[in-house]
Formats: sequence, structure tokens, C-alpha cells
Amino acid sequence: MAGRQILTTTRLILRELTAGDLPFVADILAHPEVMAHYPDWIVAEGPQAWLDRQLQRYTGDGYGPWLALRLEDDAPVGQIGLARQDVNGSWETEVGYLLQRPFWGHGYATEGAAACIRYGLETLGCSRIVALIRAENRPSQAVAERLGMDQDGTALHAGLEHRVYATRVAPELGGR
Ligand SMILES: CC(C)(COP(=O)(O)OP(=O)(O)OC[C@H]1O[C@@H](n2cnc3c(N)ncnc32)[C@H](O)[C@@H]1OP(=O)(O)O)[C@@H](O)C(=O)NCCC(=O)NCCS
Repeated sequence: MAGRQILTTTRLILRELTAGDLPFVADILAHPEVMAHYPDWIVAEGPQAWLDRQLQRYTGDGYGPWLALRLEDDAPVGQIGLARQDVNGSWETEVGYLLQRPFWGHGYATEGAAACIRYGLETLGCSRIVALIRAENRPSQAVAERLGMDQDGTALHAGLEHRVYATRVAPELGGR
């Protein structure tokens, strides 16, 4: 069964993950470079726990990290979406992006995340969207900066110190 489609951008469709996407999740978790900035326990829990967590977010919060498929060939490029997170004791909505290694360097994360930020601010009515990023994760910080997000303090997330990036404005991104 296909997952519920949420957003379309110039090159991507974002849809809900389904039980059938377990092999895709397993591929992501098996790639050490892709998972380099995530805590070891997340990888150790395995793909079924990861997938179940996202499905629970859809049911409980109404949104979550979605599967990004490339429009031209349906290739699963990664996970891009929104997640409700406790940030220093307040519930906030985080934009997240995680791409399979072959799809880095094409602007897909920025393109998908821009649509998610707009959706969070305009459709969900969030007052701001945050991104929680490890200090050493420069590629992720570059995405946040391209999206017009600024650093606003730090937070402990999944047991690790993260920078909090935030924006209250939907990004206007021109094509290339
Ligand atoms: C974070 C992550 C998604 C960033 O990937 P990325 O490919 O650098 O980001 P984008 O998809 O936005 O692509 C931007 C790059 O594509 C280039 N690009 C190529 N064609 C492009 C196009 N048509 N449009 C826009 N950018 C394009 C940009 O110049 C930029 O390259 P640069 O950084 O060398 O300047 C990726 O490193 C990743 O998945 N990491 C592992 C998971 C992770 O850590 N996630 C974040 C947790 S906080």
C-alpha cells in the first residue's frame, strides 16, 4: 500500500513511510557515513524500531519524517520531514533531512526541507521551525543556513549536545 502523499516540490514527492519501506530504512541505517552524526543506540535498535517510531509520529502527531522520492524516476532519495521534539522543555517542530549517500550534492535536502518549513508554518500553524544539528555536522548546518535558519542556543537531544537552528519565515528558494 502506498503511503499518504504530503508534499510535492520541483523534483521530489514526500509521502508517509509504510511497513513496505523497511528495506529502504535498513539501507540507510547500514551506511556509517549517513549515520555518523546519530547516536549509536539508534542504529543498534535496528530498522524496525526506526520505522515504527516514524509510523507512531504520523498517528500521534499527524506528521513526521517522510520518504522523499525523486519525481523523475521514483528513486527513494532519503527521509525529509517534520518531527515534534522536546527542545529544552518546550515542544517544538523540527525539520529533518537524511539522504542516501548517492543523493548528496544535488540540492534535494534543501529543496525538500524548504517545503516542509513552509508546511509547518503555514499549514500546521507553528510559530517557528527548528533544526537540531551536531556542532561537527557541517553539511547539515549548510542546509539550515541555505534555508535562512539562524542558531539560537543549544539543546541536549537523544543524549547528545546539538545546536538549535530556527526560523519563523518560509524560505524563498529560486531554482538553479
Ligand atoms: C545533511 C545532508 C542531507 C546534506 O546533504 P547535501 O547534499 O549537502 O544537501 P543538499 O541536498 O541540500 O545539496 C546541497 C549541495 O548540492 C549542490 N547542488 C547541486 N545541484 C544543485 C541544485 N540543482 N540545486 C541546489 N543545490 C545543488 C549545492 O551546491 C550543495 O553543494 P555544496 O554543499 O558543495 O555547496 C547529508 O549530508 C546527509 O544526509 N547527512 C547524513 C544525515 C544527517 O546528518 N542529517 C542531518 C541531521 S541534523
